[in-house]
Amino acid sequence: MSSTEASVDKYDAVRKDIVKAFPDEDYDDGSFAPVVLRLAWHASGTYDQNKKDGGSDGATMRFKAEAADGANAGLDVARNFLEPIKAKHAWISYADLWTLAGCVAVEHMGGPHIEWTGGRRDSQAEAENPPINRLPDGALGKDHVLDVFVGRMGFTVQETVALIGAHTVGRCHSNRSGFEGPWTETPTRFSNQFYKQLLNNQWVEKKWDGPRQFVDAEDGELMMLPTDMALLEQPFREYVDLYAKDKQKFFDDFAAAFLKLVELGVSKRGKL
Ligand code: HEM
Repeated sequence: MSSTEASVDKYDAVRKDIVKAFPDEDYDDGSFAPVVLRLAWHASGTYDQNKKDGGSDGATMRFKAEAADGANAGLDVARNFLEPIKAKHAWISYADLWTLAGCVAVEHMGGPHIEWTGGRRDSQAEAENPPINRLPDGALGKDHVLDVFVGRMGFTVQETVALIGAHTVGRCHSNRSGFEGPWTETPTRFSNQFYKQLLNNQWVEKKWDGPRQFVDAEDGELMMLPTDMALLEQPFREYVDLYAKDKQKFFDDFAAAFLKLVELGVSKRGKL
């Protein structure tokens, strides 16, 4: 067996254990996959292309400052969920495990396969300037989305729209982010529903004592963040129209953009 084949086998065992653990009737909509996907994104989404720091390498959310960053509230659920997997496969780094688990989550929910590769290492000590207060604020608008995704992380506008399409799964929790509700009626199924709902529903501001968010005018069951609504504007809009019509194109673009996300700032030392 070549060394490449051997390493594929090694990760396959981890993949299988993650998939086996995802379903849980008592948690949210019946699966830990959405919150695990969010962990992979938040671990990676701190990357700064100008400062050349942040990103998934190092698994720096293991340390206090980043774990306590307000944007990461609730991600202890995902980190704890992965602990037994880490205990069983002690050789894998947290940085690889968290990003691999996010990719496995997408595929497990019916989304595209992501060509993840390993090689990230865990930092042994917290950096003096941990990458905090960098993740996007859902209450803001178009300029903020452009600053964070295009300006700081280095994505194109199209990649940005593809990535935010991950809101097709999961939900907001008022005791984590302050926002409340799911984006689609199928929160454990990865599809292009997010774009369809965004375009086809009438969205009204939710009247409540919480942060500014939108709900569908019909029965108020579904939600959108102000940053999601910003995708209806230029320069994003044409890609929302495209992905609402063409699920395969969304899957292809999401797979490529998500791989780029989990590899931001990763030097792939000793690529496995
Ligand atoms: C402007 C960009 C974004 C903003 C402002 C944003 C904000 C949020 C907020 C406020 C929540 C609710 C958290 C909670 O209360 O539990 C959430 C959930 C989620 N986000 Fe995002 N997000 C953004 C982009 C992304 C991207 C790029 C991805 C992945 C590629 C992603 C994946 C998810 C997932 C899967 C959930 C559901 C988590 C769960 O069900 O527990 N988001 N996001």
